Amino acid sequence: MTTEALTGELLTAIDVACTPEALEAVRVAALGKSGSITLLMKSLGSMEPDARLQAAPAFQALREAVAGALQAKKSAMDSAALEARLATERLDLSLPAAASPRGSVHPISQVMDELSEIFADMGFAVAEGPEIEDDWHNFTALNIPPEHPARAMHDTFYVRREDGEGQRPEPTGDHTRMVLRTHTSPVQIRTMTGEKPPIRIIAPGRVYRSDSDATHTPMFHQIEGMVIDRGIHLGHLKWTLETFLKAFFERDDIALRLRPSYFPFTEPSVEVDVGYSIVNGSRVIGGSEGWMEVLGSGMVHPRVIANCGLDPDVWQGFAFGTGVDRLAMLKYGMDDLRAFFDADLRWLRHYGFSALDVPTLSGGVGA
Ligand code: DAH
Repeated sequence: MTTEALTGELLTAIDVACTPEALEAVRVAALGKSGSITLLMKSLGSMEPDARLQAAPAFQALREAVAGALQAKKSAMDSAALEARLATERLDLSLPAAASPRGSVHPISQVMDELSEIFADMGFAVAEGPEIEDDWHNFTALNIPPEHPARAMHDTFYVRREDGEGQRPEPTGDHTRMVLRTHTSPVQIRTMTGEKPPIRIIAPGRVYRSDSDATHTPMFHQIEGMVIDRGIHLGHLKWTLETFLKAFFERDDIALRLRPSYFPFTEPSVEVDVGYSIVNGSRVIGGSEGWMEVLGSGMVHPRVIANCGLDPDVWQGFAFGTGVDRLAMLKYGMDDLRAFFDADLRWLRHYGFSALDVPTLSGGVGA
């Protein structure tokens, strides 16, 4: 075949190739290892010098023409493919938004935000601690040594550490034995050992106990509060709780009743009841027709302060702890705790909050 004829044939093949695969097949047939052009170029080696001088420019021109045509066709195909893709992936930003978003802020998250807002206004910082806690922080440092009867009330989940070979024997030391924290009180210890007084913190978070019925779930939420400073006394505690409960329930007629109680980590210890009235057959916070327990609190035990390396003759403080879930139920009128964690969309739509309902004291925390 003449060089011209071969050129014509290859250019036509390139022209009619309509897929990248077909084009690649033409390239291999022409320029591949044993392609027609490659063989022509190889044949130059065995020609007489004169003949070679005559033939070479034509072969060269053939190779360039075909390589150029292949390249041009490939770019055309690539840009056509890109155009097609862009056309299918186009997003029409002028379309109206889809139906309003279905998500809502869970009442517990909302109440935790409300609590943080109220206490931030009183100068409290938010502190955190791990949910997998060691026994020392969860119990011993809080004046609940091993064998203390108060441990039995906590229905503790113990966490087993496993190594590659199976389970290790249960650690016995209170620094190595791990538990799912049974209350937020260990955050008191973490804060006192990690920061210098004066301290004003709240610590909202998840806690765990092996307990489950209409009013108990194995995971629930507490909020801890603690103030450590010089000259702190029960009056400060009472004022703080009163101010907090008035802001939280958004009423001024909140009546508090402090009852002597016992917690290992406070001395004296007080349980706080809040007064309620009966409106249309249900309990509403405010007034004093009846009393409902809402908080545990007291003056931080000197031994707990000393356990954290502080001098209890210099530093005193108060602490309190309460269930966030219970506060949410009281404020928003929900009566089954288990519904909080059922992930039932109808319940969440009914009791959930809009993401724009950000609690503020000026706008009303439960706005
Ligand atoms: N940690 C206690 C509990 O889970 C609640 C509590 C009581 C916390 C008294 C306190 C406190 O800080 O002072 O039952």
